[in-house]
Amino acid sequence: MGQQNGREQWTSKLGFILAAAGSAVGLGNIWRFSYVAGEQGGAAFLFIYLIAIALIGYPLMATEMVIGRKTQKNPIGAFSALAPNTPWWLVGALGVLSGFVILSFYSVVAGWAMHYTVLAATGFSSTADYVDVFLGHITSTWVPLIWHAIFMALTVGIIAAGVVKGIQRTVRLLMPLLFLLLVALVVRGLTLPGSGAGVAFFLTPDFSAVTARTFLTAVGQSFFTLSLGMGALITYGSYLKQDENISDNAGWVVGLDTLVAVIAGFAIFPAVFALGFDPASGAGLAFMTLPAVFAEMPAGLFFGFMFFLLLSVAALTSAISLLEVVVAWVIDEKGWSRAKAAITVGSVIFLVGIPPVLGFSTLSHITFLGFDILDTYDFITGVVMLPLGGLLTCIFVGYVWRASNATKEINNPRGIINFGGWYNILISVVIPVAIAVVLVMGLYDVVSAHYGW
Ligand code: PFF
Repeated sequence: MGQQNGREQWTSKLGFILAAAGSAVGLGNIWRFSYVAGEQGGAAFLFIYLIAIALIGYPLMATEMVIGRKTQKNPIGAFSALAPNTPWWLVGALGVLSGFVILSFYSVVAGWAMHYTVLAATGFSSTADYVDVFLGHITSTWVPLIWHAIFMALTVGIIAAGVVKGIQRTVRLLMPLLFLLLVALVVRGLTLPGSGAGVAFFLTPDFSAVTARTFLTAVGQSFFTLSLGMGALITYGSYLKQDENISDNAGWVVGLDTLVAVIAGFAIFPAVFALGFDPASGAGLAFMTLPAVFAEMPAGLFFGFMFFLLLSVAALTSAISLLEVVVAWVIDEKGWSRAKAAITVGSVIFLVGIPPVLGFSTLSHITFLGFDILDTYDFITGVVMLPLGGLLTCIFVGYVWRASNATKEINNPRGIINFGGWYNILISVVIPVAIAVVLVMGLYDVVSAHYGW
């Protein structure tokens, strides 16, 4: 990154796209996407999810990027700069809080991925029952806790060093590799006997299974996977040069992220059915099915090792964007050094991440609406706080900052996609109404189903 007025800036267009794509593509595309799609009916979920991505995700991504670039500030500072002396900074604060909580459980799951990398390297595909391997790991208390600590330490190290050139270079090399490995997994999964039922599950929508909860989950997933609703892209946009083309950049990030999720679906669901798993088996789905697919592949150990390594790297490039949101705010507002901010914030996030680890062992009696602790963190942030942040951002742009101001900043004469009147209608009416309806009805559905109303 270069410097302007003392603030770091991305040195190249590719640097920004890669960082934003690195933030978007992560555990959300493989681990979270597959298990929520599995629980919410497969193809019908996919259908609603794709609509949410196009209608809500893409315009909001461009909006967040432009708020950051315009103000050159962290999310809280950005809202106060555009609407001084108003309570709108609270939307930024909600985002910083979401980033804080998301990273605390994200790091736990990333720790699972790192543990599996080591397992693959030391020969786990000889073990027959991958469900037992997974449950054994998450209930073992110390091992997942240590991996959580290691992953947080890595994240803190990168952020403390500034956004190192190294990460950009690493990501550029490793993300295409992750993509290729996923494609290899798709091929193996599809050629397993009995995989056709998985393809049907993922591609033939059964709308009779759709409830308000399906919509809620799909909208939440589109926010989570695109890193929206919490200011990650406001923060990354704040390091962006004035002449960058936001509408196209956002299009690239959304397209790439969606492609990875869909490919992951094709890698996982055929295998789930071929191996006789239940697609609704929850947060362990990818961790229980993929090792079994590797076991069926020539050089499976090697592929398994590479896959979980790359998944860990993808998680790391997302985690740094989560930590950067909070750290950027502490640096801007409190004037702390980057290292002090990263270490302090990272340590507190590690502590907040301890209950989700213990929720599978010592604290397994604690549940909320039937969710374990990790799922509770995930639900409250990914399903409630992110869409709420997005909703408030739309109202802010539509009625306070004004869509015409955003459009002026987003459009670029060299751009392929041009934002016009349609954007105004989407941002001020369609998106906020859609999110509000989905939130109210979906939450009612979840709560009433739990209490049997
Ligand atoms: N988008 C990331 C993923 O799909 O794994 C998760 C994430 C990163 C969410 C950054 C929110 C965020 F600000």
